[in-house]
Amino acid sequence: MAKKASKAQPPNSLAEGFANLLADTYATYLTTQGAHWNVEGPNFPELHQLFQTQYEELTLAIDGIAEHLRTMGFYAPASFATFAQRARVQPPEDALSAEGYLETLQSAHEAIVTRIQEVLPHAEDDAFVELNDFLVERQDAHKKAAWMLRATLGKKSKSL
Ligand SMILES: [Fe+2]
Repeated sequence: MAKKASKAQPPNSLAEGFANLLADTYATYLTTQGAHWNVEGPNFPELHQLFQTQYEELTLAIDGIAEHLRTMGFYAPASFATFAQRARVQPPEDALSAEGYLETLQSAHEAIVTRIQEVLPHAEDDAFVELNDFLVERQDAHKKAAWMLRATLGKKSKSL
């Protein structure tokens, strides 16, 4: 199938996908920072640090997603109301157990992987190769974060 000319404009569906990804990433950032603040238990130092490492990674991602939206010619949503409307990830109202935070965050990262897989088909045109690469990088980062949370929970992996 012939690809469109490289001057193709990003479709609204791609920008919508980025806006939804921004909302889910922001919600996961807030959940992760809440975990960093409120986690308790014998593994506090390790978990406090793990959550910090993960929310710092998300901070950079949030800025990247928003600035890609601006590059595409769209405004980046920047209010809690809009994020709550768009996000599938919902930060918990109350403090969770250490295990609860790990489980909740693993699910959040997996939900973002799903979200990215839904957005990627809208970025297949050659004109959007940088957006496509960015989405694939974000997908890898969320898979890695989910793995670290799974491993911290002691969940077993598959044997070859
Ligand atoms: Fe801190």
